[in-house]
Amino acid sequence: MHPIPVRTMKFDVPSAADFHPLYIAGNSVLSYQHTAFGLYAALVEPFVVKSLRRTLERIRDDKLREELDRYCRQESQHYQRHVDFNKVVLEHGYPGLEERLARLRAELDGFLRDGGDQERFCVGYTEGFESYTTQFALRMIESGLYDHKRTHPAFGSLFKWHMLEEIEHRNVAFDVYQHLYGGYLYRVRMCWFTQGHMLRFQDECAMLMSAIDVPRYGERCRITPRQRLQIALFPVGMRLRSMLPGYSPHNYRVPDGIARLSAQFTALAESVR
Ligand SMILES: [Fe+2]
Ligand SMILES: [Fe+2]
Repeated sequence: MHPIPVRTMKFDVPSAADFHPLYIAGNSVLSYQHTAFGLYAALVEPFVVKSLRRTLERIRDDKLREELDRYCRQESQHYQRHVDFNKVVLEHGYPGLEERLARLRAELDGFLRDGGDQERFCVGYTEGFESYTTQFALRMIESGLYDHKRTHPAFGSLFKWHMLEEIEHRNVAFDVYQHLYGGYLYRVRMCWFTQGHMLRFQDECAMLMSAIDVPRYGERCRITPRQRLQIALFPVGMRLRSMLPGYSPHNYRVPDGIARLSAQFTALAESVR
């Protein structure tokens, strides 16, 4: 089995009537941040696939070319499954959310289209995204949040699978960036830009959804100023790490449990290539 297996998964997507917004451990911040991440993933992952795929011809290393192809196929599975779940979220009715998504879509389309140094910019964006999501994925899986008794099992499985595969393909965008361009300062600039772009979007979506849900579900949907400060501080260490000189995703210490989780999801998959 290749270390980046392309799994096709099937999840029991809840109906709009069954959906409750606090599906991660019954917690407002964690749930809205995950929903916002799912909304972001459904738009950014098609973007990262296009960004990396268009460099395929220029990769002169057979191993990396296959990894790049597998990376794109894993990410394609991720965004398709998030789209299924996002439909339920959007059907739930969040005025203003579609407009925010349209703005993100237009920004990403612009990044792909604009002339000049756009290819390097898009690969750099992808690397900035991956260098954060790998760390986020390791922390989330280690936390046990997706198996929490108050986490909805379908959402828990979706995110656990997605985070696992982010760990499996953690080296690819970095290796493509290094292979094609290299350059530490540009990479740091892109980490700064991309992670800010992603976190601002997620914060805005989380605050919008929480404000709409408080009147219909009560105070437990509120994101308090203290929690918002915690959200702002949570990424700081991970962001700094991704920008350190000598950063490489090859240096992560991946817990033994990840290999077991890979095998579990491979067994659960409808198909694996
Ligand atoms: Fe992904
Ligand atoms: Fe990824």
